[in-house]
Amino acid sequence: MPLLEVKNVTHYFGGLRAVHNYNLTLEPGQIRGLIGPNGAGKTTIFNLITGIYRPSEGEILFNGQNIVGLQPYQIAAMGLGRTFQNLQLWRHVNVLDHVKMARYSKITYGLVGAFFGTRKRYREEAEIEELAYHLLELVGIRRYADQLVTNLPYGILRRVEMARALATEPKVLFLDEPTAGMNPEELVQMMEIIRQVHQEFNLAIFLIEHRMKFVMELCETIQTLVFGEVIAEGTPEQIQNDPRVIEAYLGKELVE
Ligand SMILES: Nc1ncnc2c1ncn2[C@@H]1O[C@H](COP(=O)(O)OP(=O)(O)O)[C@@H](O)[C@H]1O
Ligand SMILES: [Mg+2]
Repeated sequence: MPLLEVKNVTHYFGGLRAVHNYNLTLEPGQIRGLIGPNGAGKTTIFNLITGIYRPSEGEILFNGQNIVGLQPYQIAAMGLGRTFQNLQLWRHVNVLDHVKMARYSKITYGLVGAFFGTRKRYREEAEIEELAYHLLELVGIRRYADQLVTNLPYGILRRVEMARALATEPKVLFLDEPTAGMNPEELVQMMEIIRQVHQEFNLAIFLIEHRMKFVMELCETIQTLVFGEVIAEGTPEQIQNDPRVIEAYLGKELVE
């Protein structure tokens, strides 16, 4: 059984058909990519799968269970982790606490423990801190642990988001333009981080990008979305040479 199966999903915003007849199968450990020009519907697909929007039509199965209609927090708790294209961080919270807070959403230690600081609570706190440091190390930003996010560059903030997503122990990680706002050097680093994360946790990863080169290097297969429709799907090699894809991009991103 596939980990995630999206079947014939269509979504309208008012009169606008943002996604049409979309299908996806994701197996455990697989890395797949979704590319397409701005406004193609990529983020909408993430929002449909993660429960932010409810599809107008179609089915979404996670481990065989239909998740259409569940709340985003319920879907997250089942093992679907994500980052946002527009960063969702708090200006006055430091980097370490961002990751710890993401983890707290996953555990409970009961009202009594929360008030009186039972031993179980202290142990959990220590474990959470250790995990948070480990994740910061993994994404290469441990040295920023004490800093408020206000003053940090995009490249670092995107990594904070990734550490937060990983703190919930997802089975699938959805990354929405993880290189947005990054310079070429940060882009190469991000590629390496994604490889390491994939290796360490053996997650399935679904990656949105509009930089072709980035997805080409990371993904086993790629879908190309244009005006809400998948116009081509295949290996990086097939996608790169597909005339429909080249036309959609007018050649410009292919050489980037
Ligand atoms: N919440 C919304 N309400 C109305 N229209 C939306 C909303 N979100 C996205 N859209 C529209 O849906 C289309 C696809 O947007 P989006 O999924 O953000 O594209 P992409 O991520 O590929 O750039 C665009 O035309 C966009 O304006
Ligand atoms: Mg988008």
